[in-house]
Amino acid sequence: MPGSGSRDAEDEAAGGRSAWGLLAAGGLGAGLLALHAAAAPFVLPALRRVCLPFVPATAAQVENVLRMLRGRRGSLVDIGSGDGRVVIAAAKRGFKAVGYELNPWLVWYSRYRAWRDGVHQNTKFYISDLWKVSFSHYTNVVVFGPLLFAPQMPLLEKKLEEELQYNARVIACRFPFPCWVPDHTTGEGIDTVWAYDLKTSRDVKQNA
Ligand SMILES: C[S@@+](CC[C@H](N)C(=O)[O-])C[C@H]1O[C@@H](n2cnc3c(N)ncnc32)[C@H](O)[C@@H]1O
Repeated sequence: MPGSGSRDAEDEAAGGRSAWGLLAAGGLGAGLLALHAAAAPFVLPALRRVCLPFVPATAAQVENVLRMLRGRRGSLVDIGSGDGRVVIAAAKRGFKAVGYELNPWLVWYSRYRAWRDGVHQNTKFYISDLWKVSFSHYTNVVVFGPLLFAPQMPLLEKKLEEELQYNARVIACRFPFPCWVPDHTTGEGIDTVWAYDLKTSRDVKQNA
């Protein structure tokens, strides 16, 4: 039939285009899925009712935390440990240091960093929601709650007050706890940290 050859060629070309279209759509879909999987752990904490978004501590802030821990020893926990920088720095100063972090990517990255820096034996990182674990085993507690977390500080204060032992020290970074009276403060501006000895806070409460 005249013209049928060219129609076959057109059909073939159209078939080829749709196969490429399907491949491209599949590739785009897979890309978006991968992007979603990678981004969700960073975005979802910000959508939770009670959350701390990932904002890494500055080098000065980490130094201030370590200053507030001078003379202390034993176990340490960083609540919402991010990329593990505080836990790793504490382990390098001799603490058995543990991080609890909601974002699995950050936990895996922290484990890698601890291994790379040679402190993996003195560090542990758990993928965990801070509101679902007890911190009663720890005598040194670090928390860096940025602006979004500030409204939750009273809740965390209450949780720690109920769980921690009398000799525990809590270090708050950037935002102080609302009711406790700090024993020590160091740093300036966004690098300010406050140290609270639970014993003092309880004594103040009892005498009030
Ligand atoms: C401000 S960042 C601090 C990171 C790290 N501590 C530092 O000083 O660099 C707070 C971290 O808490 C994590 N986070 C948020 N909500 C959490 C929750 N409910 N339980 C555990 N970690 C949480 C976030 O993913 C984020 O990495």
